[in-house]
Order: sequence, then C-alpha cells, then structure tokens
Amino acid sequence: MRIRTVATQLALLASVPLALSQDSVSYDFDTYGVGDDSGTPYQTYQSNAVVQPPEMHINRNGTALADGYIFVGVNGKPTSGQNWPTIFEFSDDIEGSLIWTANYSLPFDFRTQTYKGEPVLTFWSGIVLNGYGRGSFYMLNQSYDEIAHFEVARFGDDMGDAHEFTVTPDDTALVAIYIAVPYDLSAVGGSEDGWLFENTFQEINIETGELVFEWNASTHVGLNESYNALTDVGESEEAPWDYFHINSVAKDKNGDYLVSGRHDARWLNDDMKRITVFDNGPTEDIGYSRGLLLDVNEDDMTVTLVQDFTNEAKTFAQYEGSLRAIDPSNETTNYIIGYGNQPFFTELDYQGNILLDVQFGKTNVVNAYRAFRQPWEGKPSTKPDIHWDKDGNSTYFSWNGATEVASWVVCTANASDSDLWTNVTVARRTGFETTIDLSDVQLERFVRGKAVNSNGTALGWTMASDGDELYDAPDNVSERGSASATPTPSSTSSSSPSGTNEASSTTLSGAAARATHAVMEQAYVVAVVVVGGLAFV
Ligand SMILES: *[C@@H]1O[C@H](CO)[C@@H](O)[C@H](O)[C@H]1NC(C)=O
Ligand SMILES: *[C@@H]1O[C@H](CO)[C@@H](O)[C@H](O)[C@H]1NC(C)=O
Ligand SMILES: *[C@@H]1O[C@H](CO)[C@@H](O)[C@H](O)[C@H]1NC(C)=O
Ligand SMILES: *[C@@H]1O[C@H](CO)[C@@H](O)[C@H](O)[C@H]1NC(C)=O
Ligand SMILES: *[C@@H]1O[C@H](CO)[C@@H](O)[C@H](O)[C@H]1NC(C)=O
Ligand SMILES: *[C@@H]1O[C@H](CO)[C@@H](O)[C@H](O)[C@H]1NC(C)=O
Ligand SMILES: *[C@@H]1O[C@H](CO)[C@@H](O)[C@H](O)[C@H]1NC(C)=O
Ligand SMILES: *[C@@H]1O[C@H](CO)[C@@H](O)[C@H](O)[C@H]1NC(C)=O
Ligand SMILES: *[C@@H]1O[C@H](CO)[C@@H](O)[C@H](O)[C@H]1NC(C)=O
Ligand SMILES: *[C@@H]1O[C@H](CO)[C@@H](O)[C@H](O)[C@H]1NC(C)=O
Ligand SMILES: *[C@@H]1O[C@H](CO)[C@@H](O)[C@H](O)[C@H]1NC(C)=O
Repeated sequence: MRIRTVATQLALLASVPLALSQDSVSYDFDTYGVGDDSGTPYQTYQSNAVVQPPEMHINRNGTALADGYIFVGVNGKPTSGQNWPTIFEFSDDIEGSLIWTANYSLPFDFRTQTYKGEPVLTFWSGIVLNGYGRGSFYMLNQSYDEIAHFEVARFGDDMGDAHEFTVTPDDTALVAIYIAVPYDLSAVGGSEDGWLFENTFQEINIETGELVFEWNASTHVGLNESYNALTDVGESEEAPWDYFHINSVAKDKNGDYLVSGRHDARWLNDDMKRITVFDNGPTEDIGYSRGLLLDVNEDDMTVTLVQDFTNEAKTFAQYEGSLRAIDPSNETTNYIIGYGNQPFFTELDYQGNILLDVQFGKTNVVNAYRAFRQPWEGKPSTKPDIHWDKDGNSTYFSWNGATEVASWVVCTANASDSDLWTNVTVARRTGFETTIDLSDVQLERFVRGKAVNSNGTALGWTMASDGDELYDAPDNVSERGSASATPTPSSTSSSSPSGTNEASSTTLSGAAARATHAVMEQAYVVAVVVVGGLAFV
C-alpha cells in the first residue's frame, strides 16, 4: 500500500516539469548596440560562475534544423569576452543554449572529427598575429580530456598556423604554417632582397608527430598569380608579402590535396564532383559574402554555380568564414555558413532557404573563424554543478559538456555524507542551466541534484549544498521518494521571473580581456589548387 502511494506520487513528479528558466536568448535588435570598443553581452549562470558564453541574438529560428550542435571557436577583440571553443544547442526545443566551453584561448577551426574511430573535439589555440597564428593543435575526447596536443613538424614549437586542422581517415593531421623567407621579388616588382610568406602545409602522424608530407605554395603557385598587392610589404622579415594566404587543406580519396588561399574549399564528398567554398567577396555585382556550392567539371575545366547561400542581412565578412554541408554524404542536406570576422552563422536548406539565422556578438568585436553543425555526445568526467538559493527557494543545476541530461532530480538529506537521500522533485532540463522552484517543497539541511537521462538512468550527482557552501557527498547512495512534497501545477509558474531574470542579467563590465585583436585574412583570393590535378582560380 505504501509503495503504491509513493509510486503514484513519483509518476506525478516525473510528469510535472518545474523548470522555470531558459538561458538568456535575445530577439531584440538593440542587444548588441554599435561601436567597436565597448564590451559585448554575455550570459552568466548561478551554478557555474566560470563560463560566460556570448549572448545569442536569433533573427530567425525555423524547423527542419539538422541534428547536432553548433560549434564555434569564439574569438575577437579584448572586449569580446571569453574567446573559447564553444558548443551551442539550437534545436526545435532549445534555442541558443550553451552545451560546453572551456579555457583554451583564441581557438580556430573548432569542431568534432573522428580519430581512431572515436569522436573527438579538435582545434588550434595560440596567439593571433596579423593574418596568421602561432600555436599548436589540441584534441579532446568525449570526456573533454586532452588526448593529443601537438606541434607542427620541423619548424619548432608554436609554429602551427590557425587556419586548418583536419584529421584524415588515416588518423593524420593536415595543418598549415606561415614562414617568412628571404625571396627575390623583383619579377613581380618587389625588392631583390625581399621577404615572402612561404605558405606550407604538412600532413603529420598525430600519434608520433612524424612528418608524412609537406607542400610549399611557392613551389607550385606563381607569385604573379596573386591578387594581393605588393604594397608596403615584402621588405622585411617582420612584414613579408603574404601572396598566397593558405586557408584550407583537404585530402581526397585518391590521396590528392585540395588547397585554398583565402577560402574554405572542400569537396562535398568522395564523388568529387561538387565543391563548397566561402566567397568573402564582394564583387561589383555581388556586394556581400556568400557560400557557394559549385559543380566542377574536370574534363572541360569548368565550374558551374549550383546554389549560393547567404544570411538574411547579406553580411559582408571581410575575412575568415566557412560553408559546410552538414551531412556531406547527402547533397540535399542543410548547409551552414559561418561569417568569419563577423559574428553570424546561418543554417539553410539545399534551396538556400534560411532556417536559422543567428548573431552571437557585437559586429567588429566578436568573430569565429568557421562555424559547424555536427553530432556530438559529451560525457564530462567532472561532476554536475549546483547553486541552492535558499532564501529565493530555487535551485540551479548545470553540467558543462553533458549532452545526455534529460531531467534533474532534487534530493535532500540531513547530512552531506548521508547514504540515504530523499528525492523531492524532478524537472526537465531547459538549457545549460535549469532553475527549479522549491517553494512548496519540504527540505532538510542539504540539497543536491541528480542528472538523469531520458530513461531515468543516473548520469551524475552534484555536491551537496547547505545554501552557503558545497560539500563532498557520496554518489553510490540509496534514494527514497518523498511523501511530503508533491509538486503542484500552481508552483510551476510561481518563481519564473527570478530564474529568468538572473539568467539574462548580463553585465557589460568584467568581460575577460585577454584577446589579441585578430586581423585575419587581409589578403585577396589567390587560387584553389588541387595538387597533381585541376587548378582554377
Ligand atoms: C523562435 O522560436 C520560438 C519558439 O518557437 C518563438 O517563440 C520565437 O518567436 C522564434 N523567434 C524568431 C525570431 O523566429
Ligand atoms: C584561463 O587560463 C588562463 C591561463 O592559464 C588563466 O590565466 C585564466 O585565469 C583562466 N581563466 C579562467 C576564467 O579560468
Ligand atoms: C578520455 O580520456 C581519459 C584519459 O585518457 C580517459 O580516462 C577517459 O576514459 C576517456 N573518455 C572517453 C569517453 O573516451
Ligand atoms: C618549404 O619551405 C621552407 C621554408 O623555405 C623550407 O624550409 C622547406 O624545406 C620547404 N619544404 C618543401 C617541401 O619544399
Ligand atoms: C605567371 O607567369 C607564368 C610563367 O611566366 C605564366 O605562364 C603565367 O601566365 C603568368 N600568370 C599570370 C596571371 O600572369
Ligand atoms: C538528405 O537531406 C534532406 C534534407 O535534410 C532529407 O530530406 C533527405 O531525406 C536526406 N536524404 C538522405 C538520403 O539522407
Ligand atoms: C520562500 O519560501 C518561504 C517559505 O514558504 C517564504 O516565506 C518566502 O517568502 C519564500 N521566498 C521567496 C523569495 O519566495
Ligand atoms: C532531519 O532533521 C530534522 C531536524 O533534526 C528531523 O526533524 C528530521 O526527521 C530529519 N530527517 C531525517 C530524514 O532524518
Ligand atoms: C538507458 O540509458 C542508458 C544510458 O544512456 C543506455 O545504456 C540504456 O540502453 C538505456 N536504456 C533504455 C531501455 O533505453
Ligand atoms: C559507497 O562506496 C563506498 C566506497 O566504495 C563504500 O564504502 C560504501 O559502503 C558505499 N555505500 C553504499 C551505500 O553503497
Ligand atoms: C525517487 O526514489 C525512488 C525510490 O524510493 C525511486 O524509485 C524513484 O525512481 C526516484 N525518483 C526519481 C525521479 O529519480
């Protein structure tokens, strides 16, 4: 009889979501204001004081979004906040909520790839100089542990450039290097004792660091092919002529490489008939940047436009940027454009219809080299986080990096080291941080949370809070259902304002100011070259 009563109450617990707040998402055009130098808005949380991702401004959120999360390496001026690799959720249910971020400065090319058959996170981190980077390459596993951190081969530490980190099916890495070399530039109107930016790419064995292959632009692409003016550069080692400006390198199924100066060029897939590329533009006819899906005919040596992709504002991104097919095996998949030096990304269908259109910072302040939408399962080795606002009758839960949490169960006990905890309520996860109203709930001295997946399996326990401090608490505890604290629908709406306001009260002061202003990609298009095959400009 008693068991039956408890079970009835638990069924009710599970069916009434008490979660009240959404993460801070703005639909207000005034969110960002104007001006280069003031800080950009960011989100803050009660349960995790460390992470402060940028505020999202959603211009359009449609349906038919692809599965997966949005990956951006947030970057920019010192006032741009946390320039960290960042994963966001934009789904039909939750729009613009943080999934994960961590303290790796100025990340470039942040995304997931497959290494030794396992999903991993990959990115470059280092310092950003005038159009290139000096740094190294990181790989994290699904627990967000570093499983690889490597340098380029032969040229010394921190010589890895920011533009490319692609893992090949052979578990090698494709990376770029910018090296100033003395060079006779007289044939193109420069100094005989001039300086050139050699643009090198390397294929490296990630496990051993061994060099597999190396390629130099100057050996293959004439200096006279450059669209970048040889003006006020090329006279010194400090200011070499950046004639090629390597951006992307990919390896195809035949073992050839697709190399691009200034653009993000990819074969759509192993059919090798279509190329996706981000065209910064603008030309006289087209005054904005766009993504291009191109049909490539290697017999006729012709290229035909299949589809172009732009956001609603028709943003001009002077440098950086990307276009990716979200499921490259399927040409009619959705596509995602990252606007590089401007803080926008857009998901579109194959016909170019905008499905999701997002701004993630103040223009000319925040940027992200590329943007991706990709599937990811994160299983952090950290514990989930709790903040219990005892006077406000609310508890806040989050778990940086966890993708499987469906609900939070609130538990209470009289001792932090108790091995018996009473579950008092449960709420569906609403975003990075879930706020739960505890007004009508009987609590003992300590409160903690249990993260559960969609089938109720425990994924992790928070520490215990007495409202002032956090205490270690065992995870292998027994649980009992509460007879005293069945949530009622009326309590569902009672404290909504406090949670919402706290989550959205972004301050403009205090943004971490560590970034070097990134002036990337001032050069112009040079060439897209398939080594050993097709070449077109
Ligand atoms: C985004 O979606 C939400 C939920 O469906 C809706 O309330 C909101 O109006 C949408 N915003 C825009 C800008 O389309
Ligand atoms: C990020 O890491 C840097 C370098 O280790 C450190 O100085 C800084 O305090 C860290 N920032 C945060 C918010 O943890
Ligand atoms: C991630 O790497 C750490 C350290 O090697 C390991 O303990 C952990 O099990 C790994 N996690 C996953 C999900 O592979
Ligand atoms: C590329 O250029 C660098 C700098 O001049 C040189 O050290 C390296 O040997 C070159 N590599 C190849 C494959 O030519
Ligand atoms: C660059 O020089 C090569 C060799 O002289 C020549 O074949 C080519 O047509 C030139 N390209 C341009 C764009 O002038
Ligand atoms: C390709 O993507 C489109 C758009 O998401 C979808 O409707 C279609 O079913 C997909 N085709 C395959 C074979 O997965
Ligand atoms: C919290 O709950 C207590 C007891 O029900 C009540 O007296 C108090 O006013 C509540 N505080 C807030 C901020 O709602
Ligand atoms: C917790 O402590 C309070 C006050 O001492 C007591 O009334 C209550 O029965 C205790 N609860 C449990 C589960 O031991
Ligand atoms: C419940 O979730 C766990 C962990 O994700 C999974 O291993 C298990 O297969 C799921 N069980 C059911 C019945 O869905
Ligand atoms: C939990 O684990 C600890 C350490 O392994 C053990 O001493 C303790 O008995 C366990 N408690 C329960 C309730 O299983
Ligand atoms: C609460 O504890 C009972 C055991 O008494 C358990 O059967 C139930 O699944 C728990 N509820 C939740 C939401 O975890």
